[in-house]
Amino acid sequence: MSKLRLLALAPLAGLGFVALVSLPALAQDSTTEPVAPTTEAPATETPTAPTTEAAPAATETPAAETPAPPAVEAPAAEHAAAVEEHGETPHYPIKQPVRQDWSFAGVFGKYDPAQVQRGFQVYKEVCSSCHSLNLVAFRTLADDRGPYFSEEQVKALAAEYQITDGPDDAGDMFQRPGRPSDHFPPPFANPQAAAAANGGAAPPDLSLMAKARGVGRGFPWFLLDGVTTYQEGGPDYIHALLTGYEDPLAGVTVSQGTHYNPYFASGPALAMPKPLSDGQVTYTDGSPQTVDQYATDVAAFLMWTAEPTLGDRKELGFRVLIFLIVFAVLMYLTKRRVWAKEPH
Ligand code: HEC
Repeated sequence: MSKLRLLALAPLAGLGFVALVSLPALAQDSTTEPVAPTTEAPATETPTAPTTEAAPAATETPAAETPAPPAVEAPAAEHAAAVEEHGETPHYPIKQPVRQDWSFAGVFGKYDPAQVQRGFQVYKEVCSSCHSLNLVAFRTLADDRGPYFSEEQVKALAAEYQITDGPDDAGDMFQRPGRPSDHFPPPFANPQAAAAANGGAAPPDLSLMAKARGVGRGFPWFLLDGVTTYQEGGPDYIHALLTGYEDPLAGVTVSQGTHYNPYFASGPALAMPKPLSDGQVTYTDGSPQTVDQYATDVAAFLMWTAEPTLGDRKELGFRVLIFLIVFAVLMYLTKRRVWAKEPH
């Protein structure tokens, strides 16, 4: 019996150990950890933490927190925030994405159709001139867990596009209006053409982008994220990237054809020019027409394209947990019953 008890205690002891190990690191990190949606109020941060890890709330005053933001060349213009901590090797992104409030976060999260529709509008009117969405078919826009457009809307929308079909009887490819079963046509004929039109960097396909990106948060967060169910690193990254364009400090040179963005995961600057500006897309539902709102909406839309079944997954997961809890109770009662008459 005592052995059994010991066995039952083992996982608890394991958890205790993890908690002990995490606590000191947690206390350290808590100063630099992005606080949920406080982007608008950087002043609430006490200025006690001009730490090297690029305090994310301080987007308004980069000069105060990070003495010398990065350049591409010129070792003299050092990537202060990144370099200081990691020796000579700069560490990207220079700034961590700020966590946003997402309707699809948490155990019961699901997409907000109005938001996904707005995000689609932003993609269609802005991003689609450079980025393909190869894996998405028009018909999926009628998804009741996603954008929830009506069948008629989807038909009308598909018909706005010209799709290359064929070959016809003469062996030629031809153009025809899109149908709901078609996928979004790419803006460029091939990656080479896309790269040529964008200073040598082909804009990546966005279908799975929200799942393909996400900034590693390091210990202990990657452990805690499992417990707090934080899975929104991808959309947080996209939002941060789209809203994060800044002027590099005077004297800092960014190589030609690239644009400084401290949130970019692979360097100080990227080939995509700032794609969004206030008032660029006209919303019909009265939502604010700001870069921040556009970025949030399009990130939510891209999360939907990357994981359209997120709602189902969370619902099933919850049911499974309920089942496991009931099952565990039943097993415990059974065990008591079976062992009741054993002397111990
Ligand atoms: C003028 C063309 C253009 C437009 C418009 C544009 N992009 Fe890009 N985008 C690019 C290029 C080029 C790259 C590749 C950048 C690089 O690797 O240096 C890119 C890269 C990206 C990346 C990947 C960044 C990474 O971590 O690798 C994301 C995400 C992205 N774009 C999202 C968007 C969204 C969302 C929109 C619409 C709001 C948009 N882009 C509009 C050209 C564009």
